[in-house]
Amino acid sequence: QLITILNGPNLNLLGQRQPEIYGHDTLDDVANSCTAVAAQFGLRCELMQSNHEGALIDMIHTARQTSAGIIINPAAFTHTSIALLDALHTFEGPVLEVHISNVHKRESFRHSSYVSLRADGVIAGFGVQGYSLAMQRMGHILAPKG
Ligand code: DQA
Repeated sequence: QLITILNGPNLNLLGQRQPEIYGHDTLDDVANSCTAVAAQFGLRCELMQSNHEGALIDMIHTARQTSAGIIINPAAFTHTSIALLDALHTFEGPVLEVHISNVHKRESFRHSSYVSLRADGVIAGFGVQGYSLAMQRMGHILAPKG
């Protein structure tokens, strides 16, 4: 089974972008660690990123056909996008939301998430390790004997 890992705007710059908040690991590092965890459960994963809201929506629509679960860091769209929420409502499998930083410790506009209205679980403030923890959770949900 395939797990789609979606990343929103500015996360292509992970590793260079505000490293004091988001750390030095890159999205390639995230893909590698998630692939290793997924394999422990007999799962595969594909990591994608876009700076464009509509492209992320299209990726969710594609995942409806291809993927058993979605791990998503919607980045700033977390706090603004009803359209992403609606797209996630069309997806039937588990959805896990990841934030690298502890959004609750930051500006108040980061405290609310449209995506959380659909997410089955949320991780925030665990750094990039949050992605592999979410993948571990996905494994337990989808392949409980793995
Ligand atoms: C983020 C938190 C968001 O508030 C921010 O806009 C991001 C990244 C995180 O991973 O901590 O771009 O989703």
